[in-house]
Amino acid sequence: MKVGNINKIAVMGAGDMGHGIAEVALLAGYKVTVRDIEQRLVDRGLSRIKESLGKLLEKQKITDENKRTMLANIETFVDIGESVTDVDLVIEAVPEIMDLKRQVFQAVDAAAPSHAILATNTSNMSVTDIASATKRPGQVVGMHFFNPAVLMKLVEVIKGEKTSEETMQLTYDLALKMNKVPVRVEKDSIGFVYNRVNAPTAILLRQIVEKGIAAPEEIDARMKKVGMPMGPYELMDYVGLDVAYYGALYFADRLSSEYQPASWLKAKIDAGELGKKTGKGIYDWSKGRPEIDLSKAKEDFDPTVLIAIQVNEATKLLEEGVVKSADEIDKAMVNGGGAGFGPFQLARGIGYDKLAKICEDLAQQYGVTVFKPTETLKQGNI
Ligand code: 3HC
Repeated sequence: MKVGNINKIAVMGAGDMGHGIAEVALLAGYKVTVRDIEQRLVDRGLSRIKESLGKLLEKQKITDENKRTMLANIETFVDIGESVTDVDLVIEAVPEIMDLKRQVFQAVDAAAPSHAILATNTSNMSVTDIASATKRPGQVVGMHFFNPAVLMKLVEVIKGEKTSEETMQLTYDLALKMNKVPVRVEKDSIGFVYNRVNAPTAILLRQIVEKGIAAPEEIDARMKKVGMPMGPYELMDYVGLDVAYYGALYFADRLSSEYQPASWLKAKIDAGELGKKTGKGIYDWSKGRPEIDLSKAKEDFDPTVLIAIQVNEATKLLEEGVVKSADEIDKAMVNGGGAGFGPFQLARGIGYDKLAKICEDLAQQYGVTVFKPTETLKQGNI
């Protein structure tokens, strides 16, 4: 199958990512079905799509007629089988719990047409493990969007062990048709590119809170003052503390126990304080986006430490052959979030030796092996 043969796309899950991905598919002109486990969740997803299309209309990015056509192109379901009977591609965006993802893939595989491609929007998890719940692993692929899906350009296209080249190419072409910037992830590796490069930052952010080095708002204010659109703790709330928590558990299980989530994060999950989506997380979101008080910025926090551990982690991806080049990593990092430059672009300006020294010091100060500089970082010249 080629991308031109795709007419109808199903999205499993109408939450933060699901509703956004469905909207992206509608904007690209596709017929779309959206499925969630309860009617009220489906309805909420649909109203969020309407709200976001309303913003685009206000800014004259779409016309009133475009909006009407898109709303006529969407169908909603609670029954999983009914939602996929006549679709050409399915994108799963259910919570980051492997058993749940496998159950959804099994059900979708049983009901979707045999030609359909099954994609997972998993943030971190093995595409190969998800694909093994189906009888068509060659047609299973990772298609990882970034939050908010309608604005963020990156789509990681991830090759599971059995994903065919035809499936990879089709998914890549589909991302282009959706006006996104696709990056090929050649190896099914935890966290892929964007989340893997950012993962050690979460270890540092945890330690900063646990050791009382700074409060989240002090770090967020500092990072906003140096030009980030959101501070790192605010971003955790925005994406969802549940996503951060389950991601950390998966990293801890598969990569290093140093990724184990903080006890304060677990307490927030247990209390149902998941961030923006529940109105409370690290910040209060009940009245909209939190106001970060820039006067609280911790001025002696050096943002270069975050760059150093990101560049270091990025070099691991090169060493492991997860992506083809440093440029691809930079492309992913610039288009997935709000950063103006990729880690390697920044590293060339700062100097690899300086970054390697920072990583060495951080590894010692916090006793974290993940921060230790790689040989590639120490050698530089990337
Ligand atoms: N639909 C349509 N328009 C939207 C929108 C939506 N869902 N959300 C925001 N906008 C529009 C706003 O209306 C606003 O438009 P305007 O400039 O014309 O008024 C514009 O986008 C900017 O929004 P805001 O003024 O509210 O705030 P910001 O300027 O801070 O932009 C942001 C919001 C684009 C989300 C920006 O803060 C940002 O880039 N944040 C970083 C996001 C990020 O890093 N995402 C990646 C997370 S990691 C991930 O997703 C991986 C996964 O696996 C977990």
